[in-house]
Amino acid sequence: MTSIAPLDWLKSNSEESLNELKELLRIPSVSTQPARKKDVQRCAESVSQLLTRFGLEKVTIHPTKLHPVVTAEWCHQPNAPTILLYGHYDVQPETPVELWNTPPFEPTIIGGQIIARGVSDNKGMIFAHIKAIQAWLESTGSLPVNVKVIIEGEEEIGSPNLIPFVEANQKLLEADMCLISDNPMFAKDTPSVCTSLRGLGYMEIEATGANSDLHSGQHGGTAPNPIHALASILTQLKDQNNRITIPGFYDNVARLSSAQKKAFSQLPYSTDKYKEQLGVSDLWCETDYSPLECMWTRPTLDCNGIFGGYTDEGAKTVIPAKASMKVSMRLVDDQDPVTIMKEAKSYIHKLCPSGITLSIQDDFGYSNPASTDPAHPAVQAALKALKDTFGKNALLQGEGGSIPIVSELKRILGIDTVLIGMNLPEDKIHAPNEQLSLDNFQKGMETSVRFWENIGMIPD
Ligand code: BES
Ligand code: ZN
Repeated sequence: MTSIAPLDWLKSNSEESLNELKELLRIPSVSTQPARKKDVQRCAESVSQLLTRFGLEKVTIHPTKLHPVVTAEWCHQPNAPTILLYGHYDVQPETPVELWNTPPFEPTIIGGQIIARGVSDNKGMIFAHIKAIQAWLESTGSLPVNVKVIIEGEEEIGSPNLIPFVEANQKLLEADMCLISDNPMFAKDTPSVCTSLRGLGYMEIEATGANSDLHSGQHGGTAPNPIHALASILTQLKDQNNRITIPGFYDNVARLSSAQKKAFSQLPYSTDKYKEQLGVSDLWCETDYSPLECMWTRPTLDCNGIFGGYTDEGAKTVIPAKASMKVSMRLVDDQDPVTIMKEAKSYIHKLCPSGITLSIQDDFGYSNPASTDPAHPAVQAALKALKDTFGKNALLQGEGGSIPIVSELKRILGIDTVLIGMNLPEDKIHAPNEQLSLDNFQKGMETSVRFWENIGMIPD
């Protein structure tokens, strides 16, 4: 069977595709904010309506303790493999809203870009894949593969209810492999498949000094200051070489071989362009590692927020009673988030200056690092689909972000995941003015049409 018919179908339905995507983008499905719970539910309903309209079967909204999981399938090819398509319909908060040039939940097209919260992370991508399914079904009456779909509403908060859902629904989700596009391609005009993701550990550390805020003149020079305590802890967590000082932190991190280092150095990457994209004059890389090596293969630690004391306009002379900071750790290889968090907490307690007490909250969920063998047939099918769509060879790459379900699918269902990059690294995910180019959106749908065909040719 040739893929010409679904590709033609996509071209003649591109306006409708964009309008349908826009509908999804208008729903502020921010999973972390309790006030948006109804919107998240509404988004799950919208996704399920699209799946039904696009020809998928057994479309079901499964309630969970928090946000629903949507599943569907089309399984009528007994001799072809079954692919589990995963995506998330929840999005990050739009704050700081004043930095958006257009309303975050009113998708706007400017200069060939669709601008809206969640367009790249992850609504545009899941839409591209399910639209490609519709293109096959409408134009040929069939799909070259069996497809199961799982779209969740809690990825941006660590997928806490999805993992038990997968445990409890193994038969429903049984598949040969998983397909995800929740990651960028290498660069504009350089398509790529991603074969590794970092894991994540996250904590909030609250420091308490005196039993009340204090006058900074009356008590300055004597009273312990919790903001200073946090700052002191933070600066001791990394050394001058940007290495993390937590004992045992690197025990399960593999060394890069010289062959791996050579492969990294041959990627078409410009450190200067990256600095320019970020608007910085220098990078904080670990000594002896290139930026790509650091982002894709090395663990790291960052303060994500620090607060306390007087932060309103003007000056108030005060020594605060409390201060807090949020810290994330990106993990690689065999680093186990549970062990690392335990070691980190005990080290942070040791670093705590006298006169200050710490309370560390770590119930944010975590994500294990994950990787896929580049020789996996699904990776090869994805590389070919990208090459045929972009007219350029696709690269293999790693990524620094985390997608909690990937390692869990391997552990629970025993399946590998192929990650097809669809948006661009500069698309501002999690930031104001998130975007996806119309060109990448269209090419994403075309890549998906070709992927379904390529993977269908692999015998089950
Ligand atoms: N789409 C991202 C993951 C991602 C980002 C992959 C950049 C590759 C490059 C995803 O939606 C995300 O933000 N994940 C969270 C997971 C966390 C909350 C457990 C992350 O990485 O911070
Ligand atoms: Zn995200």
